[in-house]
Amino acid sequence: MTERAVQRCISARCGATFPVRESLVACPRCNNLLDVDYDWSGIKLSWEMFTRRATTTGPRNTAGAEATPAMLDFSGVWRFRDLLPFYGDERTIVTIGEGRTNLQRADQLAKVIGLAPGNLFLQYEGFNPSGSFKDNGMTAAFTHARMIGAARVACASTGNTSAALAVFGTLTGIKCFVFIGDGKIAYGKLSQALDYGATTLQIAGDFDACLSRIRHIAEKRPDVGIYLMNSVNPFRLEGQKTIMYRVLEGLDWEVPDWVVVPGGNLGNCSAFGKAFIELHALGLIKRMPRLAVIQASGSRTLDRVFNDLGVRWTPENGLRGSWDEAAIDREYARMDAANERAKTVATAIEINRPVNLPKALRALHAMNGVVRAIDDETIVEHKALVGRYGFGCEPASAASVAGARLLVQEGVIKPGERVACVLTGHLLKDPDVTVRYHTGETAGAHANRPIRVPDDLDAILKAMGA
Ligand code: F0G
Repeated sequence: MTERAVQRCISARCGATFPVRESLVACPRCNNLLDVDYDWSGIKLSWEMFTRRATTTGPRNTAGAEATPAMLDFSGVWRFRDLLPFYGDERTIVTIGEGRTNLQRADQLAKVIGLAPGNLFLQYEGFNPSGSFKDNGMTAAFTHARMIGAARVACASTGNTSAALAVFGTLTGIKCFVFIGDGKIAYGKLSQALDYGATTLQIAGDFDACLSRIRHIAEKRPDVGIYLMNSVNPFRLEGQKTIMYRVLEGLDWEVPDWVVVPGGNLGNCSAFGKAFIELHALGLIKRMPRLAVIQASGSRTLDRVFNDLGVRWTPENGLRGSWDEAAIDREYARMDAANERAKTVATAIEINRPVNLPKALRALHAMNGVVRAIDDETIVEHKALVGRYGFGCEPASAASVAGARLLVQEGVIKPGERVACVLTGHLLKDPDVTVRYHTGETAGAHANRPIRVPDDLDAILKAMGA
């Protein structure tokens, strides 16, 4: 395949391009974010071809091996490979069978949050091999890392990125490092990084501090040779676009009215925006869904920038555009002066300096989006509701359902509209929060307390209501 992809700066003022085979953390000219941008000319795509691939049979090997068409078609990411054609040779794609996730129609939960039956869908990204949506991005970033011969990869993480990085690192034999904030990680996630064998550095600081350190090392210390795997890496976002392709697939290629997603570092919402912009340009969809990005009240930088400060994206040329960079700088300076730190029970989104903020503004513009923030108590309550009426999720993921409910109450989402909430991580990622909710002194409204019983048949039967 000839190369039809470049890396391009998102700032319309700059718009510099760089070859796809370079390892870059940001635009070397102006330090803004980069996109993977494609020349789509001559490409003809149809949903039917992706549907057909879902039935391909053949051997499905592991990441060390050369990828076969059967392996790629098995993957919920690479089944859509024509929509992320940055890789050179199909055989070099790194896949571990990621992205085989489920869109569940959740009628009971729809009723609770005020939507008509058949209108609430939950996209369970916790069903990925490492238990979160991150595998969608890692498979793409590892493919790029392998393309350019990276020997060492690293990330800062609140947990899920490190778990995904570690499993891909181990299976591909690429040395990996994870930086996590001391005490800022749920045990379910820390245990994965350790089990998968990543070199794990617990830094005395939070996620924002970890990311700034590893970014510095990746950019300023080429002697260490680190390939950065955080979502500032545009190849990761290419993989995360496929979450939306699977939502469409689950709806038989119909576009929902709303996509609701939690926002932390804002990689997902950015990827979703790019996915829909491209699908629209390619003629694969006729209308755009609306986007709702839901943050935690204790880490609501996008909410402040978008709703309080009114900062917006102005599109200028394709994917490029402009935004009030000075307003964001001023807001960060204010946060520094006030020593504001992110704080939420949803540790996965406990992030105050979201690196993808300008791309999130682009997504909000393209998808006529809204942003809301939800307090911790409400997040945990909705986590319990997803558990009660669905397959469960981790706290950060439940922000999406809580946000959808708030938007229904506000009348922004109409009861008859079709809503897809993205559940980003698995229930078992943060069992401490779950058990505290059900058993703690301040157990919540939907608590399901275990019943303590003596080892006595009559007492047991009584407790069973028999
Ligand atoms: N949900 C979960 C379960 C996450 O792990 C994350 C991010 C998010 C939502 C936020 O997604 O950054 O795309 O807005 N977790 C990162 C990590 C930061 O290190 O695992 P985003």
